[in-house]
Amino acid sequence: MRRSVLAIVALISVGCTPDTPSGSLSPLDFDPVDIRDEPLQSLPAVPYQAPELVHLGGLLFHDVRLSADNSLSCHSCHNIAQGGADGRVVSVGIDGALGSINAPTVLNSGLNIAQFWDGRAPTLEDQVNGPLTHPSEMGSSWDDVVAKLSIDPAMVGAFDRALDGPVTPANIRTAIAAYERTLQTPNSPFDQWLQGDDSALTTAEQRGYTRFKELGCVACHQGRNVGGNMYQTFGVLADYFADRGDITPADLGRFAVTGDESDRFRFRVPSLRNVELTAPYFHDGSAPNLPSAIAIMAHYQLGRPLAERDVDDIAAFLRSLTGTLPSTDEYLQ
Ligand code: HEC
Ligand code: HEC
Repeated sequence: MRRSVLAIVALISVGCTPDTPSGSLSPLDFDPVDIRDEPLQSLPAVPYQAPELVHLGGLLFHDVRLSADNSLSCHSCHNIAQGGADGRVVSVGIDGALGSINAPTVLNSGLNIAQFWDGRAPTLEDQVNGPLTHPSEMGSSWDDVVAKLSIDPAMVGAFDRALDGPVTPANIRTAIAAYERTLQTPNSPFDQWLQGDDSALTTAEQRGYTRFKELGCVACHQGRNVGGNMYQTFGVLADYFADRGDITPADLGRFAVTGDESDRFRFRVPSLRNVELTAPYFHDGSAPNLPSAIAIMAHYQLGRPLAERDVDDIAAFLRSLTGTLPSTDEYLQ
């Protein structure tokens, strides 16, 4: 009896001891335990997916053959080391074509309720079609992409190993989505604090988080992705679009999907994880830095001016949401 208890204890402790140092475990392969009961939670483990499939998706994500003139990959506009976005007000597609909207990050996007600012793609698989065929993004067609990849024996072999099938649009979508689901950024100072490490946040960061809750930012930016789980109007307490002027189709938000008048100017609330890396901000790229984005949010979403110190503290808190970025070494050689 005693021996079997010991054996169980030994098994459990083996199971709990990673054979690599915990800092190198990225993305997480186990769910962290939050000691604190907060409206924000740590990022969960990445769901298990076959390594061959994830690798194929990573290759495709970095492959310029997905664009009409072999000039752009997904990574061109979603640079992982730069926070999964492109640092521009609006994206630049093939032939220098200017897009109409700011590129959101791909990091942690698998945790969002839907993809795109207006949520028009329900899944990551559905999302891939958009950039691939959009004339001012990759400007390609599925026939072209399948033809280009199918004459590459290395690609055909990778599809066969990962999906036991040929290069098809559905298989491309499956692989890219699988890779994107691994693009989580665990171990941010804020997550370490949630998990019980009191010293993980500075006092300014803790003050900023307290203000973030007191002011009501957390009513919209909440949960494990600090956003991404609901649609909200941009301009709840003041008319952002009237003040900015020059309304474009990209400003219509969810209305473009549902045609429902109450969805005009409603957007999927963006995740604030790694937000310090993805300026400029908002769907129109109008806020050049975090302090200006925070002040605009306070004014238009909460109807209150913020003291400079509050802005600084909240910015400090938002910077504590930067986690470990996924490595792209195996795809960028
Ligand atoms: C020319 C730049 C560009 C390229 C290339 C590009 N994207 Fe994007 N991506 C964008 C922009 C801009 C948006 C926002 C569009 C919108 O919301 O209407 C976006 C949105 C997304 C989103 C939604 C994220 C979210 O939180 O809503 C995902 C996921 C994504 N892209 C993945 C990809 C993949 C996969 C590829 C390659 C097949 C790709 N992108 C190629 C610019 C680009
Ligand atoms: C009523 C819901 C709501 C509240 C409250 C709210 N936000 Fe937002 N937030 C949004 C929406 C919606 C957007 C996207 C707006 C757009 O670009 O169209 C957004 C965007 C942002 C962005 C830009 C993110 C990016 O990647 O572009 C930041 C930063 C931000 N909010 C911070 C805050 C802070 C700080 C507070 C509190 C002072 C706050 N928000 C309160 C709904 C809200």
